[in-house]
Amino acid sequence: MHAVLIIGCGSIGERHLRCFQSTGRARLTACDTSPVLLENMAKTYGVETRSDWKKALTSETFDAVVICTPAQFHIPMAIEALASGSHVLIEKPLSVSLEDVDSLLATRDRMQKKAAVAYILHSYPIMNQVRDFLRQGELGPVLQVTTMAGQHFPTCRPAHAVHYAKTYYRDRKMGGGAIQDALTHTANWIESVVGPTDSVLCDCDHQALPEVSVEDTVHISTRNGQTMVSYSLNQFQAPNESVIQFNTAQGSLRVESHLKRWGTYRLGDSSWQWREVAPLERDTPFVIQANAFLDMIEGKSNSLCSVEAAARTLRFNLASLASAELGARVHCDSLTA
Ligand SMILES: NC(=O)c1ccc[n+]([C@@H]2O[C@H](COP(=O)([O-])OP(=O)(O)OC[C@H]3O[C@@H](n4cnc5c(N)ncnc54)[C@H](O)[C@@H]3O)[C@@H](O)[C@H]2O)c1
Repeated sequence: MHAVLIIGCGSIGERHLRCFQSTGRARLTACDTSPVLLENMAKTYGVETRSDWKKALTSETFDAVVICTPAQFHIPMAIEALASGSHVLIEKPLSVSLEDVDSLLATRDRMQKKAAVAYILHSYPIMNQVRDFLRQGELGPVLQVTTMAGQHFPTCRPAHAVHYAKTYYRDRKMGGGAIQDALTHTANWIESVVGPTDSVLCDCDHQALPEVSVEDTVHISTRNGQTMVSYSLNQFQAPNESVIQFNTAQGSLRVESHLKRWGTYRLGDSSWQWREVAPLERDTPFVIQANAFLDMIEGKSNSLCSVEAAARTLRFNLASLASAELGARVHCDSLTA
């Protein structure tokens, strides 16, 4: 049994607590500054609770720490957790600036501990099937990717959870807005297929979501090496849908996550060849992720997003925000801490 401390037991922290517990491989401790939340964690999951994360890290030993607080706390908490001798799983986005990314990597390496970032698409079987297929290279190099996603955020945020306008979501400095909160998932996964983003041209605005002023609608055009990528996302439309299409000179591959299928259409074909995938319970990818993280700290396989890859996606997030502000293309490597 691994001793695992969950710091931040809001919406995603509670899910991690429940999903790590369901692996049967971890003994959980819940930490939050909210006494009400801690009482709920103790009552619902029978776990011990702590209200002070620093004290918990200095006075106790945890094999691993899962960091589920708003994004501006991710790196400082991860550095202290690693320095205390724990492995870390850090929620996305890695941070809201490039500050201390290097210290995080240095602390991980000095302590010889494992660190991963919880970009959840790496734990969806459909996404892994698609990436594996594309990596085999049967369709040739990916020349263009188009992504189109939308959902009604107020409906998708769990009904029992705190209203989104009262969370980090309302403020970009806490990781809020559609780019850092939602689009970053797709960008991170696309980067894992076609390589890191070199430059970004972004247009975004607040179009509809009540009680917040952060962007809820985003259009982005990027260059990832030889691949051109376009992202379109909003968080107010009625259908909850996501379509990603990869185009090569030999054919196309389309992922329709909401329809639980992906397909190929080769040059000369007259219809899509679809592969259906089994529908998943909402918690299932998080249980897969928890098991993958525990495998990683046991020195077995590593299928999760690395800190280095998450730092590249952090550059995508920051370049997108800067591009929208400037009204011009921004090169990811031009950003400084
Ligand atoms: N991977 C995913 O699918 C996914 C989904 C939702 C959120 N997230 C990410 O997870 C993070 C948290 O999101 P959320 O929706 O759970 O937010 P939330 O507001 O529901 O929960 C955050 C919790 O952190 C606690 N907290 C803040 N400061 C703390 C401190 N110093 N010590 C202990 N606890 C502290 C708050 O009290 C709150 O309970 C964000 O970075 C978000 O982007 C990821």
